[in-house]
Amino acid sequence: MAKQVMSFPGIDADLACNKQVQEALSLLESEPLHDPRAPRWVGKLAASLKPGRFAHSLSVAWMSRRLAHVHGLDPLKAEQAGLLHDCAKCLPLDEMQRIAVDHSLTDDPELLASGALLHSVVGSWVAREDYGMTDPDVLEAISYHNTGYPGMTRLDMCVCLSDSIEPLREAYPRLEQIRALAETSLERALLLSLEGTADFVTSRGKFLHPRTQNTIAWLKRSLSEAR
Ligand SMILES: [Fe+2]
Ligand SMILES: [Fe+2]
Repeated sequence: MAKQVMSFPGIDADLACNKQVQEALSLLESEPLHDPRAPRWVGKLAASLKPGRFAHSLSVAWMSRRLAHVHGLDPLKAEQAGLLHDCAKCLPLDEMQRIAVDHSLTDDPELLASGALLHSVVGSWVAREDYGMTDPDVLEAISYHNTGYPGMTRLDMCVCLSDSIEPLREAYPRLEQIRALAETSLERALLLSLEGTADFVTSRGKFLHPRTQNTIAWLKRSLSEAR
């Protein structure tokens, strides 16, 4: 018997048939998105992201809300930030740069040079302007989801971590260890995740943003002081 294809308001039939999108929708089937604006946001995301990125966004929303429940954080904020965290990811770099410069979002040349870094800062602006998200906690979590920063909130950690361990993520070294740690300590899991990112980036001779390095040092210090 043919497997039934799940649908969702705002997602057309072609996109709904995508394998990753189906996997993401099956996560949300048992635990639907709670924000009443979610169907509208999902439709906008479906129209502006590639299918894999769109499925990842749904999956991060699911993961982030789940981790928020586990760690006593606001699950709605976690869901909102998870869903919107990559809303600018598929913009061309020159368009991200134009938005960042026109709206004075950053003057960091390293951020401005890389879509992989800049999409978080621009995404926070897009989430506010195009999606109507006004909660500063959510906007901050979007802004720092790919680098972290020293002093980041636990909601920021929850979203940053969910981005790297959501169920659709392809396997990478220590993924299961990070997932297991995330059940008990956001800080320890995020530290392991960021250290993995640092190893990966530097082993390929690529640029690691200093904010990530500083966040690793801050997490190590915080964890050793808490002992
Ligand atoms: Fe991202
Ligand atoms: Fe992401």
